[in-house]
Amino acid sequence: MRPPADAIATLSLIVGAIALLIFIGVEGALVYAIWRYRAARHVAGEPATFERNRRLEIAWTAAPAVILAVVFVLTLGTMAEINGAGVAPAMRIAATGHQWWWEFSYAGVATANELHIPVDTPVDLELTSADVIHSFWVPELGPKMDMLPGVTNRLRLFARRAGSYDGQCAEFCGIEHAWMRIRVVAQSRAEFDTWLSAQAAPAPHGSEGERVFLANICVNCHAVRGTSAAGTAGPDLTHVGARTMIGAGVLPNDVARMRAWLADPERYKPGTLMPSVPLSDADLDAVAAYLVSLR
Ligand code: CUA
Repeated sequence: MRPPADAIATLSLIVGAIALLIFIGVEGALVYAIWRYRAARHVAGEPATFERNRRLEIAWTAAPAVILAVVFVLTLGTMAEINGAGVAPAMRIAATGHQWWWEFSYAGVATANELHIPVDTPVDLELTSADVIHSFWVPELGPKMDMLPGVTNRLRLFARRAGSYDGQCAEFCGIEHAWMRIRVVAQSRAEFDTWLSAQAAPAPHGSEGERVFLANICVNCHAVRGTSAAGTAGPDLTHVGARTMIGAGVLPNDVARMRAWLADPERYKPGTLMPSVPLSDADLDAVAAYLVSLR
């Protein structure tokens, strides 16, 4: 199959070409009429009328109807193609919208905000929402689709080339709607398999940061597989260090930014549901280093 965005682009070009031809025809007739019947040439007499001209009336009704019918059929064909008609998905990934982050679940592996997919592979996302209506949209890889609480919508993604593709929640979902970015990382099959098996591993133990993390309210909302932290309100942090962004796009992910984010999430993402946890400077250092080490 070809990327859904290619099919959408082809349809847009065809419809744009039809519209351009109509525009040229109408504007051409207008300019011609202005020139041909300008006052300097034609001063006397009533203009010709076209009342009860049945042939003309049928023509200007039928022509737009035929044009619209052609566009309708082309659109139906494109919709079937981008929905993956006739091509079975090679992989299914559950995607859940939250205020204001994305949860992606592969069998046994949960990640957030960054979706990894293999290239040249039809992937079906099963979209739903944990709270309000969100909309998943990565323009280069597929169409836009709503995420509704209690409903599962299917969206076909297909990447032809490896790379990083950015997207954005496309349905206003509250104060931090704008900071609900998606990054899709399309990788070769081998790289993807390596990534997935690394994600499946539990988090390493024994650091001071882990002790502080597990002793504070972090665990009410976040899970780290392999520890007692099993919260589900916020993103799974088992491999948070492997992600390129913090807070669904607000900050790049490194120890200094992680520390700043933990110290005051509200400063970077006003309205975020993540509270700032009162921690000493030493504890902040330890937790930031721990989280970024979870690769
Ligand atoms: Cu989620 Cu806008």
